[in-house]
Amino acid sequence: MSGEGPRGWGLPLYADVLDATAVGPGSSVLDLGCGTGLFARAAADRGACVTGIDIDPVAIALAAADVPEGTFAVRTAQDPPLGPFDVVAAVQLLMHVADPVAVLAAAARSGEVVVATVWGREQECDVRLFGEALAPWLGPQRPASPPVTDPDRLRGMAERAGLVVVRLDEVTCPFEYADEEELLGPLFESGLGRAVGRRAGPVALRRAVLQRLAPRRTAAGGYRLLNLFRVLVARAA
Ligand SMILES: C[S@@+](CC[C@H](N)C(=O)[O-])C[C@H]1O[C@@H](n2cnc3c(N)ncnc32)[C@H](O)[C@@H]1O
Repeated sequence: MSGEGPRGWGLPLYADVLDATAVGPGSSVLDLGCGTGLFARAAADRGACVTGIDIDPVAIALAAADVPEGTFAVRTAQDPPLGPFDVVAAVQLLMHVADPVAVLAAAARSGEVVVATVWGREQECDVRLFGEALAPWLGPQRPASPPVTDPDRLRGMAERAGLVVVRLDEVTCPFEYADEEELLGPLFESGLGRAVGRRAGPVALRRAVLQRLAPRRTAAGGYRLLNLFRVLVARAA
């Protein structure tokens, strides 16, 4: 979802998903947790017939506006339309559901090929630096990486869902920010950023983040964060 990072960050991830599953003209794709339709747009641009579902009606309205040739509905990923679809995609969804195995099992009932993407482990993603900068003002944290970001656990979940893992790709997606304002703006607007800003004061918060992210500053005065994602491709057993 665009709120996860700067505009366009997901394009290399979507390209890997579409390449790995050979999506092309006429492929039918079910996009679970489609959000505002960024992946759906990329699939439709390759000529795929896209159906997207999400529990958020606002996101569904935005997706329908951005991908007018697609079909979108408010619906949970645990109860997807049956299709069958050539490819069922869960792009950046599994971290947000209570039971990822149930979602993968439901996906397997809707199509032959299931593809799921997740963030890499915390140490594999530079976005952790934001959390590290904010840490002095946050209370004790839950374990930073939900287990689904561990590749062995991801494989295990797919297998428990009755899937056979065909491949597990790693894709690095750079998060590029033109300048400090672009880097800090979304943070200051987020619920967490506002809460820490109230506690720490905006000046201290700004200083802490810029200091922690200084190693990622580019010669042009922007910032470049490298984040790893995994793309699991599987088939029903
Ligand atoms: C991080 S966003 C990813 C959106 C989109 N796939 C993308 O990559 O841009 C996660 C999405 O999953 C949706 N979601 C969360 N739980 C869901 C569920 N049980 N069923 C369907 N969608 C769900 C959220 O509403 C949100 O739009």
